[in-house]
Amino acid sequence: MKRGIITNLLVVVIFFTGCIGVPSSDSNTGNTLKGVFGDKFLIGVAVNDNQVRGKDSLSVNIIQQHFNSIVAENCMKSALIHPEENRYDFEAPDAFVSFGEKNGMAIIGHCLIWHSQLAPWFCVDDKGDKVSPEVLKKRMKEHIYTIVGRYKGRIKGWDVVNEAILEDGSYRKSPFYEILGEEFIPLAFQYAHEADPDAELYYNDYGMDIPGRQEGVIRLVNQLKARGLRIDAVGMQGHMGMTYPTLENFEKSMLAFSSAGVKVMITEWDMSALPSQSQTANISDTVSYRKSLNPYQDILPDSVSSVWNARMKSFFELFLKHKDIVTRVTVWGVSDGNSWKNNFPIRGRKDYPLLFDRNYQAKPFVKELCTLSSDK
Ligand code: XIL
Repeated sequence: MKRGIITNLLVVVIFFTGCIGVPSSDSNTGNTLKGVFGDKFLIGVAVNDNQVRGKDSLSVNIIQQHFNSIVAENCMKSALIHPEENRYDFEAPDAFVSFGEKNGMAIIGHCLIWHSQLAPWFCVDDKGDKVSPEVLKKRMKEHIYTIVGRYKGRIKGWDVVNEAILEDGSYRKSPFYEILGEEFIPLAFQYAHEADPDAELYYNDYGMDIPGRQEGVIRLVNQLKARGLRIDAVGMQGHMGMTYPTLENFEKSMLAFSSAGVKVMITEWDMSALPSQSQTANISDTVSYRKSLNPYQDILPDSVSSVWNARMKSFFELFLKHKDIVTRVTVWGVSDGNSWKNNFPIRGRKDYPLLFDRNYQAKPFVKELCTLSSDK
């Protein structure tokens, strides 16, 4: 009985201390995401250059109020941070890291080796031909040492390799793979660890609930571990839609990764409310086709919004259920207006994938979550 009272008191104290000093962005929301859930796992958000430079103050308010971790949406990708072999551009990444430090946030680096937004010079010589394995190794080492070394001790963890495993579990035929074979991944992890031995290192990918990819990633984790290389977590990007993934498959994958001996991070969470291209058999450029794929140009109908909110809430509850293996949940952008999903996989649509709407208001499921107590 007495123990029950003490536990209840403790819950109330934890709840209130979690929320004190955290101003609300929304008058209907007494609490904030990091206030309520910050002791379960990191609550992260991808930020862009305007935000870290304070040019988008409404977003900055939300970032400061709700999140305790940030990741660079673009500025650390090789094409931007290392546009020419002998030229780095550290202006935006430096501003990103300073912003995180000023706000006492866990700062995540994204991403060291990726085939997309790849610096054009990285894998080719002056004539545009593939470089030799030796040259590519040297370039990867220099790239990783320079970037990870610059922020040594300031970045909590790095997405070392992004999107290298295909749905059937085989390796993506990226330039890195074409030149170095499978070896490019262990090498990247080795270089990153040498450059900052204290930084956490992650493998990050999308569609991680797909069995083939999941198995491929687990094989990779096992190989890295067998070679004594550091890998702390697998990043499940979590770009979702209204019909995929299923909660069950997502949970199975989370548990499978955890059984392989790594933590799980939801690294790029968003949920498109729009019909997905794959559901349409024929992609032709007709007006009606375009309209059918961009159906909510004014507002998101309540019927769709309620399904979207319920689905998002279920996934967040799944992450909470597995808080012992989930160390971070990061959303891919602040508000619907600045989501990449408005332009992917089709340009110029109006999507509704994030936790805050175009008026910077928390979505219903976020308000609901923020009123939960911390004993959840
Ligand atoms: C996206 C950014 O959000 C866009 O601004 C950019 O134009 C393209 O890349 N997987 C990843 C992220 O790992 O880096 C991608 O980010 C989204 C998919």
